[in-house]
Order: sequence, then structure tokens, then C-alpha cells
Amino acid sequence: MIPSQRALFDLPREVTYLNAAYMGPMTLAASTAGADSYEKKKQPWRYDIQSDFFDVPETYRSRAAQLFGATADDIAIIPAASYGLSTAALNLDPDPGSEILVLDEQFPSNIYTWRTLAQACDVSVRTVSRSDNESWSEAMLAAIGPKTSIVACPQVHWADGGQLDLPAISQAARLQGAALVLDLTQSLGVLPFDMDAIQPDFAVVAGYKWLLGPYSIGALYVHPQHQNGEALEENWIGRDKSEDFARLVDYADQYAAGARRFDVGERSGFQLIPSANTSIKQMLDWDAAQIAETLSAKTLAIAEAVAPLGLNDSTPERAGHYLCLSLPNHAPADLVKRLGARQIHVSQRGDRLRVSPHVYNDEADISRFVDALKAEL
Ligand SMILES: Cc1ncc(COP(=O)(O)O)c(C=O)c1O
Repeated sequence: MIPSQRALFDLPREVTYLNAAYMGPMTLAASTAGADSYEKKKQPWRYDIQSDFFDVPETYRSRAAQLFGATADDIAIIPAASYGLSTAALNLDPDPGSEILVLDEQFPSNIYTWRTLAQACDVSVRTVSRSDNESWSEAMLAAIGPKTSIVACPQVHWADGGQLDLPAISQAARLQGAALVLDLTQSLGVLPFDMDAIQPDFAVVAGYKWLLGPYSIGALYVHPQHQNGEALEENWIGRDKSEDFARLVDYADQYAAGARRFDVGERSGFQLIPSANTSIKQMLDWDAAQIAETLSAKTLAIAEAVAPLGLNDSTPERAGHYLCLSLPNHAPADLVKRLGARQIHVSQRGDRLRVSPHVYNDEADISRFVDALKAEL
């Protein structure tokens, strides 16, 4: 179990932040790394081409790879989950008449991408729903069949916290010859990810939530079988020998190795990458399995404390770090706002209160949350 890491963050004692699924706070160290990098832009001669354009982003690539259990060659640097999902869609060619499977109320970036591909390829997007007692895994496994060409889903559903059995889903998809595209934004880094057992075609993560990184920087895992694919854009740095600034107009037909061709333009992100590097290093040091165990204990303590107030978690196979509580009928419609006024920060998704703690939360946060609920309900 990881003890509270609150001292590494700028979290005043009177604030209870239980909203990592919406936006994680950066550590003080990550924020300083970003600020230092902003300072440098005032004096551009201080940039070192090899280091700032190439080595620092390569550090990011290697650290992101460790989160996925992949190698640096398998990772592209992307600005948003939607960018990685669009790259996946560009490189998949589903048979006309086939089906792309998504979950009911899945995050929009992982829906619109497939609607657009479906229109272009004459395939349909099929929404997989679950009944109250059914898990997302059961519903998805029942839906995968001979018509399935792509399974596009998360590891943890953003609105109810249900966790999917990705090794089983991967195996079922493979049996049908279907591709697997994952959005790991609500799980990577805080839940172990078994790359060997899952082997997705593509997997994305946005870095500003659980990974505690800056906004607008994420990562895309690309299975080696797709690494010769087509990029969304043709940027100069994604080509072979782009390190040689004097010879950039000796245009290169060859791309840089591995998944680097899929990097977003200006991927060296001088202000973003240094703080993202600091954040991911910290996440790797804490270790996903340790974080998962720690956050499971926190959500369990919260669930037990709020149950007598009529707030219940009923999601089958709930992920340990994620708690989505159904509210009693008498709960005020503006409960989240009222809690916010008391400096208790949570989200509402659908008709549930989403509570998402991280390693900085402690027992005092849990007590403050429970006391505020008692006062508002
Ligand atoms: C599951 C999931 N995926 C992705 C995102 C962010 O998407 P994007 O990076 O495309 O803005 C969110 C944000 O809430 C999310 O919950």
C-alpha cells in the first residue's frame, strides 16, 4: 500500500479532490519541469537540438512504453486520444457489411471515429449494452461474432467504472479475425495492463487524468503488424535522418523506425514533454499494481462509508480505482455543485456520482466527503 503522497502536490488541506477521472493534478515536480521549459523559450539559443528535439521525447516514448508493457518502437506521441483512435481507423479496413462493436455510453472520442469509418466502409457500428446485473465483459463476449470486424472499447467504462476482461475479449476477437482497439485513458498506470495476453492492434491513452500529466499529450501503442501503416500527417521529424537539420531538404522517403511515423507534428512539445516525463516517471515508480491495490482500498472505504446514506455502487466487476455511486431519490439535482462549494470535487456522469481518488487522497479526505454528503442529503 502506498501511503498518502499529498506532500508532493499543491493540494490545500481544505480541498478534497476526488476527481482524477476528470483531470489529474500535476505534481509540484512536474509543474516545475514544465515551468523551467517555458523559461527556456524566452532564450531559444538554450535549446539543444539533439536533446530537446530528440532525446527528451525519446525518454517520453520509453516511459510510455513501460506503462503499456511495450517497447519504445511501438509508441507514437499523440496530443489526444481522438488522434490515436483516428490513426487506428485510418489503418483498419473492415469488410463491407461487418460490424464495429462499441459499448453503450462509451466516451465520444471512441464513438465518432468509428461512425466516420463505418460510413466510409459501409459497415455498421453496433452498440453493446448490458443489463443491470451483467458485466461489460459478459455483454461484449456475447456480442462478438462472425460479423465483428473491430472491437473498440476501454479497459474501464468512464461512466460506471465497469472493468472489461481484455484478455478474454482479445481472444474472442482474434477467433473472429477482428481487430482490437483500446482506449486506456481511464486505466493505464493505475491498473496493470497485460500486453502479452491482450495484444491490441492499437491502444491509446490521454495523459492528463490518472497519469497526472499536462493536457494535450498522450501515447498511442501500435502493434508491430501496423507499424508500416499510413500516418494522419506527414511531418518532417517523422522521417529518417531528421536529426540532420542541415540536410532536411534531402527529402527522405524512409520513415523513422517503428511507430514514430504516427507522431503528431511538433511532437517534441518543449513545454509538455518535460513535465509529462516527470509525471510518468513518478507513476512508474509508484507501480500500477501498487497503485491499484492502494486505490481499491480507498474506494472500498468510501463505498462502505456512504452506503448508509443511500449511495450505492452496483456496477458488476467495478475497477478498484473507480467508484460510480447511484444517488438516493431525494438527492438535490445540483449536488456536485453544492459539494464543490464545500471544496469537495467529484463529477457526475449520467445519473451517477463519479468518485475517483488517487495516491494523494487520505483518510481526512474521505471523512470530509462523507460529512459533506451527510449535510447535503
Ligand atoms: C475514456 C476517455 N477517453 C478519452 C478521453 C479524452 O479524450 P480526448 O483525448 O480525445 O480529448 C476521456 C476524457 O474524459 C475519457 O474519459
